[in-house]
Amino acid sequence: MQLDLIIKGVNLSDGRTNLDIAVKDGRIVEVAANITENSKDEIIATGYLATPPFVDSHFHMDSTLSLGQPRLNQSGTLLEGIQLWSELKPHLTKKAIKERAHDLCKWAIAKGTLIIRSHVDICDDRLLAVEALLEVREEIKDYIDLQLVAFPQDGYFRYKNSVDNLARALDMGVDVVGGIPHFERTMADGTASVRALCEIAAERGLLVDMHCDESDDPWSRHIETLTYETIRLGLKGQVSGSHLTSMHSMDNYYVSKLIALMAESEIHAIPNPLINITLQARHDTYPKRRGMTRVKELMEAGINVACGHDCVMDPWYSLGTHDMLEVANMGLHVGQMTGVEQIKQMFNSVTINGAKALRIEDYGIETGCNADIVILQASDPIEALRLKPTRLFVIRRGEIVARSQPSSSHLTLGDHEAEIDFRRLVTQ
Ligand code: FE2
Repeated sequence: MQLDLIIKGVNLSDGRTNLDIAVKDGRIVEVAANITENSKDEIIATGYLATPPFVDSHFHMDSTLSLGQPRLNQSGTLLEGIQLWSELKPHLTKKAIKERAHDLCKWAIAKGTLIIRSHVDICDDRLLAVEALLEVREEIKDYIDLQLVAFPQDGYFRYKNSVDNLARALDMGVDVVGGIPHFERTMADGTASVRALCEIAAERGLLVDMHCDESDDPWSRHIETLTYETIRLGLKGQVSGSHLTSMHSMDNYYVSKLIALMAESEIHAIPNPLINITLQARHDTYPKRRGMTRVKELMEAGINVACGHDCVMDPWYSLGTHDMLEVANMGLHVGQMTGVEQIKQMFNSVTINGAKALRIEDYGIETGCNADIVILQASDPIEALRLKPTRLFVIRRGEIVARSQPSSSHLTLGDHEAEIDFRRLVTQ
């Protein structure tokens, strides 16, 4: 068999080393040592880590790269961010949303992120962002799997037209039902919104992903309702709770009950470490809470945890390059997950766990999977999280869609010249 591409000598994130990956017709046809078949194209990647693409399980493509419009967030707070977004919304144009989204997609491709779930705000009666991102989803589909969530930013019941707008957005082809129960006027309205939105998903056969309990309120209980509705409506494995930051502040006894309920409902937890560590606990003086959900404990209970970037250069977060390794790196620091297996789990949170939450098929470096592969200038997942290294090659369906030169620094120290790239073989 004549191969289209062979990648030689890579390491895999499960610990296997020095393997070749054979690609034909956009699929991986073999992963083994010393594959000798002829190939049209060859990448020598000896000692480098090959991973399936990064997955951003939670993003906002409609607001991304809008930083500075109409002004900067002077306080850096969530509330000023929401205020800024509502000032910008009436002035949005479809063309501008699409241009910014496509710019972001190019950044994502360069960073090896080829699967993105983006929430899209439906609290604009023109549904411009929905129209724009549905078009982007189609235009970018050869390079990125873009999943869209109908997100009532200003509340499902709190904003007067959300009920109609959300149904319209789903009719137009948005993939997933969103929500924001903690932003409804009362806890009771929040509970009712979770019920109503899960019923819509069950009726339409759609996935659910709600911004859920994104606050420091230890009494917020919408994740409990979300697990209940998931089980009641037969939606096990189809529902994600995004953020879940209130779990950070909840009573420990209550959490011990809640985590068991979450595991039973097979809910996916989607923290957003960069945003959670910067936006939560802003009312605290000291000690100051971290505000990220209990990632370590959720993982220990067998709950699928997939991290999201949430924002890049928008009213809520002025930083970021859409690097999912930066997300996982922050998550492991905030969650104090520096144990060997814990670091590996955080790598999974931006790769295979995301694919599981988004129900992506044929994902992985295995025979029969899509030939979607990222080669990193690092040896293994731990080094990747330490270095946030250059993506040497990004491959989509067997085609190289991005390539970068290995990064290094040249030192001149008197008579001594040295080239360093910060890689370091760890021996035990
Ligand atoms: Fe979000």
